[in-house]
Amino acid sequence: MDEKSIRKKLLSSDLKTLHRPLGGAGSSPYTPISLAALIPGNRLTFNLYLKVAQKGGQGFKYLPFLKQEEAWETKWQDLLTQKGIDLLYFLNEDLEKAIAYLNNSLLLLKYESAKVSQELLAVFSEHLNLSIRLAFQSSRFGPVVQQAKGHVEDLIERLQQDPTSIKQVWKILYHHYDLYNHSLNICLLGIAFMLSLKRSARETRDMGLAGLFHDVGMIRIPQEIIVKKEPLTPGERAELYHHPEIGYRLLSKETSLSQVPNDVLRLALEHHENADGSGYPLHLPLSRQHSWTRVIRLLDSYESLTVMRPFRPAYKPFEAIKIIREARGPRGPIYDLATLKNFIAFLSAN
Ligand SMILES: [Fe+2]
Ligand SMILES: [Fe+2]
Repeated sequence: MDEKSIRKKLLSSDLKTLHRPLGGAGSSPYTPISLAALIPGNRLTFNLYLKVAQKGGQGFKYLPFLKQEEAWETKWQDLLTQKGIDLLYFLNEDLEKAIAYLNNSLLLLKYESAKVSQELLAVFSEHLNLSIRLAFQSSRFGPVVQQAKGHVEDLIERLQQDPTSIKQVWKILYHHYDLYNHSLNICLLGIAFMLSLKRSARETRDMGLAGLFHDVGMIRIPQEIIVKKEPLTPGERAELYHHPEIGYRLLSKETSLSQVPNDVLRLALEHHENADGSGYPLHLPLSRQHSWTRVIRLLDSYESLTVMRPFRPAYKPFEAIKIIREARGPRGPIYDLATLKNFIAFLSAN
């Protein structure tokens, strides 16, 4: 079947499409890309595929949907959205092409308007999402940190000029859990929350970058531990608990210190430290933590709880807040309650 007949079949509802990726990350030869990040009229520089269920319900396959050099059209967007599909796929080997494509779209959108549109946010986050995918796979963070810095600074400047646009951030958060989506969500929530606290552009930028890179140490943790549904053994837990230190080392070693700001390194190292000193790896009480560790600690948990996981559905925001408010360690609350109060105010205002 070629692209045209597949599109026709989709129109006639003959094709059983899959709305959500299945299986663990990293094992598929295809990478998902959000439809919202494709700009109508722009010619593709890589092939796009549709994920469909195999006949008989056994597994799935990828069918060619749009060829390189074909232009993305609003009608495809509408058709797929109607079917409840929000992702298409490209071959992993085209990852750099897809990043360059999104970078071009981003520059174009930035040039066209000084505002924060839904389109701009969608391209911005998908570009960063694919960029960290590439960086996490190759462990070369320097160029990505550099580029992310520029895009994040630009976004912050636009959001500061029109604070009402902060609300739009909620609409582009990813709902399917994987390491990259999680990192992007923390980046976007971190930026929006820091701006609501009236923090400076530099502090907000560093929180955004910390969101992107805080879990980079997870790339060195065995996949079986990450996807395990049963409770971890003490040995497995000890291994998992190394990821903040590994991330800190990767970020400070693989790039020069001038590229990764010191605050970002500290936040990556401390993002699992608890307010009562019962966290890891350094068991620091609140008074000895970086001033924004309490923010990333809270956002990290809130995001994880409100996103669907393979072993449980997503918690509603108020349920997640309740869990966070009631979480206690041996010496007191795990989360800083003053930060939680500000976060609840931020949730209700946006
Ligand atoms: Fe983590
Ligand atoms: Fe995390």
